[in-house]
Amino acid sequence: MKKFSHEWIEKNPWLLIALVVLVVSVGGLVEIVPLFFQKSTTEPIAGLKPYSALRLAGRDVYVREGCYNCHSQMIRPFRAETERYGHYSVASEFIYDHPFQWGSKRTGPDLARVGGRYSDEWHRTHLNNPRDVVPESNMPAYPWLATTKIDPNSVVPKMQALRKLGHPYTDEEIAGAAKEVEGKTEQDALVAYLQGMGILIKAKR
Ligand code: HEC
Repeated sequence: MKKFSHEWIEKNPWLLIALVVLVVSVGGLVEIVPLFFQKSTTEPIAGLKPYSALRLAGRDVYVREGCYNCHSQMIRPFRAETERYGHYSVASEFIYDHPFQWGSKRTGPDLARVGGRYSDEWHRTHLNNPRDVVPESNMPAYPWLATTKIDPNSVVPKMQALRKLGHPYTDEEIAGAAKEVEGKTEQDALVAYLQGMGILIKAKR
């Protein structure tokens, strides 16, 4: 048996393990490290701003209610997807999503570009009882969102924490946050969040 032949490596499990680790690490570095430096993955697309206080609160309702269990927010660059949902998602749209809500399950449609697709009124009716606008829908109803108020004191610490992560909130935005959500319901916040989704790249539909 020749030394340094493939067969020889495969018959030396420790050597094989070491070489596999080496190959995977180099491959990983080459694939992953450039993403930290590329403009397309590190800089927000033109016009992207951190979530306003109200939309941030709405996003938290989205996470709390587990909407991501049935909805993705990631349009893949395939024709079947772009025909249905609009322009495919790009990394720089999600710079201010901590954590992102890409999801991996689509019991319902992808929501990445749902902003502006329906009126606020449609969303309210739909959230109160989806069957009122889509008779065959199996989406659960979320009527309590319309009667539960957002706690104005909850948003300021969240925005401060996000600022530490690099979201460029100004002092005025943080100072005005509690006022922005005062008296608003969770439904108001969720609808504001949905209506802002994916609108910077125009949806084709
Ligand atoms: C059990 C799965 C399920 C869950 C959980 C769920 N949905 Fe849905 N959703 C659906 C289905 C199915 C549809 C398609 C039928 C319809 O429009 O109601 C849908 C449709 C939608 C639409 C319309 C999308 C479009 O392009 O027509 C929106 C907006 C939406 N859901 C938002 C939400 C939000 C916000 C939540 C969390 C509060 C949520 N959904 C939770 C299943 C779900």
